[in-house]
Amino acid sequence: MRTDYCGLIDKRFLGQSVTVKGWAHRRRDHGGVIFIDLRDREGLLQVVIDPDTPEAFATADASRNEFVLEITGIVRERPEGTANSKMVSGEIELLAKTITVLNSAATPPFQIDDENLSENVRLQNRVIDLRRPVMQKNLRLRYKVALLVRNFLDSRGFIDIETPMLTRSTPEGARDYLVPSRVHDGMFFALPQSPQLFKQLLMVAGFDRYYQITKCFRDEDLRADRQPEFTQIDIETSFLDEDEIMDITEDMARHVFMEAIGVDLGKFPRMKYDDAMFYYGSDKPDMRISLKFTELTDVMKDVPFKVFSGAANMEGGRVVGLRVPNGATFSRSEIDAYTQFVAIYGAKGLAYIKINDITKLNEEGLQSPIVKNLTPAALQAIVERTGAQNGDIVFFGADREKVVNEAIGALRLKIGLEKGEKDGYFVREWRPLWVVDFPMFEYDDDGKRWNACHHPFTSPKAEHLALLKEQPGACRARAYDMVLNGWEIGGGSIRIHRADVQSTVFEALGIGAEEAQNKFGFLLDNLQYGAPPHGGLAFGLDRLVTLMAGAESIRDVIAFPKTQRAQCLLTNAPNAVDDKQLRELHIRLRNPAPTA
Ligand code: AMO
Ligand code: AMP
Repeated sequence: MRTDYCGLIDKRFLGQSVTVKGWAHRRRDHGGVIFIDLRDREGLLQVVIDPDTPEAFATADASRNEFVLEITGIVRERPEGTANSKMVSGEIELLAKTITVLNSAATPPFQIDDENLSENVRLQNRVIDLRRPVMQKNLRLRYKVALLVRNFLDSRGFIDIETPMLTRSTPEGARDYLVPSRVHDGMFFALPQSPQLFKQLLMVAGFDRYYQITKCFRDEDLRADRQPEFTQIDIETSFLDEDEIMDITEDMARHVFMEAIGVDLGKFPRMKYDDAMFYYGSDKPDMRISLKFTELTDVMKDVPFKVFSGAANMEGGRVVGLRVPNGATFSRSEIDAYTQFVAIYGAKGLAYIKINDITKLNEEGLQSPIVKNLTPAALQAIVERTGAQNGDIVFFGADREKVVNEAIGALRLKIGLEKGEKDGYFVREWRPLWVVDFPMFEYDDDGKRWNACHHPFTSPKAEHLALLKEQPGACRARAYDMVLNGWEIGGGSIRIHRADVQSTVFEALGIGAEEAQNKFGFLLDNLQYGAPPHGGLAFGLDRLVTLMAGAESIRDVIAFPKTQRAQCLLTNAPNAVDDKQLRELHIRLRNPAPTA
């Protein structure tokens, strides 16, 4: 019988006999003595096998990395000077008496402690990858967070109610994953993009406080913080307004951070969406970085430099400056690299001015090819509004507002993270905030129509109800996002609880009465039967845990994630299926897959 976990054995066990079971993490032959670091979920234990125990020695000699071993022995102090303060068991070692091989192991595809593995290799060999201590730690943290969430929400009167996975499409703005129906020829279920409509219906049904930790499915372009299936902590309440919902969920976030990783998030500041876009070009500003945009559109309208005056006079155009302290030292090649970087976001260039002598607002004091094409008033405004000092650089974005915000917003992040720590404009801390007062709709230039900013069930502000029909662009929503260190970790809203308002919003979105009834009849019908005012929020659990773990990608806190190309490299899903299955599902392929 196992008496203890390897990684928990310390000085208190000195002189005791223990039996441990685990994997041979490393095996070292020190001419005459063999060392095996035995690993289990709690960590490593150094085992010494002496030739004085010939049977154990022979077994140790024949063992290889990742063999599964059972070892009994006596805990003793490590020899002087060999203690390892980084390990719980670092001061002791186990002198083996008996070793049993519980299972042998083929040579693993990589060393468990290899730090330089490509993600593809890791994902193809995910089981071995999950043995790595960092992955064990991440998944245990994830469990702990989920447990803390459940206990917290339970203590506040929320109950967990499951909602279906085989359902109708819910419009959260992504493409659906569809599941063909065998029973109903030509019909499909959609996997939920979120439980949005079901949780609203649960409020109509009188449950008052619901939560669920549940999978959501979205077929969208993937990035480091997106997976096609991900997990939400989904919350909905009746009769609470946005302040009350934000209070509960903020309390929850604070509680979880404190209990799981000992971090006090403090009180979350609130920022209006318009301010976030104005100062940071993003609705999820990373507040660890203090760099801000400086608005310059008004002063660039009649400068000779066409790039700036063109953008300043264009409808929906914008010109901003981004002052970077001490940036005048940036080299030509660094600036070229930043110029290429902003091009990814559609910027056609990256003008800059190095501030050499603030008392000379001309080509003498300001180093830049564009100075001669700017007016003295514009140069003065640049220096005054940015607060630039000698030795700074000011970068410029001039284009359609969307391009400027995305390009200079991304540049702000990049420079902040790369250079900010030493010059004091980046702090390695936790900076949560709420972003509030989102627009109801955003205009889709491609589709030439309005889309819901959050989702179509979000309530407009009461005072903007009248704007829905005439001025949808001016209409603000009762929506809020929780942002942490530049990541949107949660989002929610007060919902529409009146069928007539819901119909008006559908109309504004170009969804006619017939289509609305067809797609969302089950919602509209039920809103008529005394729907209470309600609202909620959903956290992205994967993102929350990624931040807490200090991981780079959400894939590092998901046991079996998909790649950027939405594949599982372990199981090779998605895969071709055989004709019989397709026939049963009434499906004929246009481009049959290569092999079934
Ligand atoms: P939303 O679409 O903002 O809101 O999603 C809520 C949170 O889920 C996380 N998230 C994701 N995480 C990983 N991969 C993805 N592809 C992904 N998409 C979203 C984010 C996000 O903040 N029904 C509404 C919530 C509500 O109104 O109550 C909804 O789903 O952290
Ligand atoms: P040009 O006159 O095109 O050589 O550009 C002069 C400077 O303006 C260069 O540093 C360009 O990188 C920069 N630039 C060009 N287009 C833009 C733009 N849309 N926004 C910001 N800077 C730009």
